[in-house]
Amino acid sequence: MPEMGPGGETIGSAASPSDTQETLLLAVVAAARHHGVVLDREELRLQPEEKPSPARLAAWARGAGLWAKAARLSWRQIVRLKGTAPMVILFNDGSAGLWVGANAARNVIFLRDPRAAAEDDPAPVDEFRLKRVWSGEVLLIRPERGGNEEEAPFTLGWIARVVLHERGALRDISIASIALSFLTIIPPLLVMAVIDRVLQHHSFSTLALISVILGVAVVWETVLGYARRELTAVVGARLDTRLNLHIFNRMLGLPLSYFERNPAGQTIHRLSQIWKVRDFMTGKLLSTFLDGFTLLVLLPVLFYMSAPLAWMVLAGAVLIAIVILIFLPPMRRVIAKVIQAEIEKSTVLVESVHGVRTVKSLAIEPQQRDLWDLKVANSARYRLEAGRLGNWPNTIVTPIERFIERGVLLVGAYLVLTGASSVQPGALIAFMLLGVRVAAPLVGMARLIEDLEEVRSSIGEVGMVLNQPSEMKTAGEGLRPRFSGAISFEKVNFAYPGSKIRALEDVSFSIPAGTMLGVVGKSGSGKSTITRLLQGINREYEGYVKIDSVDLREINLSYLRRSFGVVMQDNFLFRGTVRENIIAGRPGLTLEDAVRAARLAGAEEFVERLPQGYETFIEEGSANLSGGQRQRLAIARALINDPRILILDEATSALDPESEALVNANLLRIARGRTMVIVSHRLSSLTECDAILVLERGKVVDLGPHRDLVERCAIYRQLWLQQNRHLEGQGSQRPTSMPPQIATGE
Ligand SMILES: Nc1ncnc2c1ncn2[C@@H]1O[C@H](COP(=O)(O)OP(=O)(O)OP(=O)(O)O)[C@@H](O)[C@H]1O
Ligand SMILES: [Mg+2]
Repeated sequence: MPEMGPGGETIGSAASPSDTQETLLLAVVAAARHHGVVLDREELRLQPEEKPSPARLAAWARGAGLWAKAARLSWRQIVRLKGTAPMVILFNDGSAGLWVGANAARNVIFLRDPRAAAEDDPAPVDEFRLKRVWSGEVLLIRPERGGNEEEAPFTLGWIARVVLHERGALRDISIASIALSFLTIIPPLLVMAVIDRVLQHHSFSTLALISVILGVAVVWETVLGYARRELTAVVGARLDTRLNLHIFNRMLGLPLSYFERNPAGQTIHRLSQIWKVRDFMTGKLLSTFLDGFTLLVLLPVLFYMSAPLAWMVLAGAVLIAIVILIFLPPMRRVIAKVIQAEIEKSTVLVESVHGVRTVKSLAIEPQQRDLWDLKVANSARYRLEAGRLGNWPNTIVTPIERFIERGVLLVGAYLVLTGASSVQPGALIAFMLLGVRVAAPLVGMARLIEDLEEVRSSIGEVGMVLNQPSEMKTAGEGLRPRFSGAISFEKVNFAYPGSKIRALEDVSFSIPAGTMLGVVGKSGSGKSTITRLLQGINREYEGYVKIDSVDLREINLSYLRRSFGVVMQDNFLFRGTVRENIIAGRPGLTLEDAVRAARLAGAEEFVERLPQGYETFIEEGSANLSGGQRQRLAIARALINDPRILILDEATSALDPESEALVNANLLRIARGRTMVIVSHRLSSLTECDAILVLERGKVVDLGPHRDLVERCAIYRQLWLQQNRHLEGQGSQRPTSMPPQIATGE
């Protein structure tokens, strides 16, 4: 839909669908470039005439380390916007323009056509014209700020800031609460009036008036109560969402080494503590805070009715608070023990569920049960201890509470009888009714301190997980070079954290792009460690690992991992269909891509025999697939985004000879146009490799093609002979375990 802007420029006008897409992409690229970030269009993987959703565009910009968000804005908002950073205005037809400024006085915004030359002036556009091609969608892009909410350490202060995000709603809740506390005073005062005036003077008119006031108060209370509960529910839900998103993001940003060091049960238990914090924030904290208002309103009224009685109520409440505070330190100690015991308990539970296959096959259920018994007993003991200790302050406090509720009445009556005070009987009853309401918030506040302790330790628990250094802290940083795939290690020394023995010692080698590199060595010789360094899982090594002569540590981590395909011995398949598992949520990929990847991985043949083909559902733990089938799916998954570097770590060891032969036969085809690093125990599957790296206790022993190694490398020859004894004496120079008819792989 062509639309002429006032300056003669066209807005939202793209002739053909591919032109539309081009304009849109140009606009996003330009907005990102304004912040010094170059977006790579290939990452978006668009079909020629596809219209990408705003969310996908935002994800694209975020992938490059920018802050980006698709939003809906009104004309009023964009015309009042200040600042110089361009904003992408998404037109209805799928093209886009760049907002570069606005003039609220003239009621125009300035739009730049992304296709226009840089020196062209932006065109002023008024509301009427813009609204014909735009319904409010924009893409906001700005640099990711350091020290924002996402990155700040998880502390009580952090949560308080998140809660304060809901300032508006909290203010409304407070207003409703103050009004409600005024209303709570009315009934006792009316009771007072009924007793003192109506009953003593037989006044029907007063009774009628009181009834009306009471009726109105009830209506008000009902409405306000509804509003307050509604608002509290909304705030609670918003808070939940924020916390949920946050902890999951942070958890995913933790380095793999964290998960290797800490049992899953512990992590899950610690993270789940956040719900205690949330309940506290929206439950007790909020209600005590609100009760505080009641106190402010009530106390003056009490003192007005009778100062001596009011002092007594106050003294009782303070006494209760003191008792609770005295018990605080010992409570804190017991609670710490309870939490530790709970963590140990849930670790056993998670481990047993996770490793249930092993538990059952080793028939060690009784041992696991004993372990569980022990942990349950421990946790029960400390819980009992905590319960007993907590019982004491409650017990001591009860008489004081009763005194506030009823004793005050007696004292008041005594004062009236002795003529020391002139309290009316009605006022006495009203005092009793109101006194309880004073005591409750004061006691609540003291209890709050007790809970605060528990919450503080919960926050500490959550913090122990979330405040680990995140590997994604530098998400936006780093180079994004276009790889061709040459790899070099220069004097790399590496020891795992906490281990004194070096897993890699003085490792130096280099291979050109497109090499098919085999890695062999005995178990524990450092083969997997090399692949881990390549993926940036462990980064605390000495020396240099370079890809295309760029230091690996300089490369953006998520970019690096996206450029790699990795298949390990044991691969996790997600719940979902075969197709979904191969595509693994990568944007812009279709069934055809999945089929192509499956064919390359040698998975096509069995996938087609599955009941629903590519739409067959894979259960959790992939029970309905064999090990070999699972493996081939994992290879397809690694291949689907055509990685420049493919790492196979024992990827074929779980396969039966036939499927292994199938994959191996395809290796050459898979290797075309990329660098491959293949770790394998079976040397026969590496004979085709351009070069084989032989490792021994973390050191490089040799690097060369199979033929050379058999002749010159003693360790390699030994490994080779061990595995291929049966071929000795047959005079075969290039023995192979695969039947030749499969080796063609077609
Ligand atoms: N996550 C880890 N934490 C601590 N040490 C580790 C870790 N992973 C491996 N190691 C140690 O590093 C050394 C090299 O291990 P690596 O996994 O690289 O061996 P590998 O050659 O892949 O062995 P395998 O053939 O059995 O897979 C071993 O001595 C091992 O004990
Ligand atoms: Mg290994």
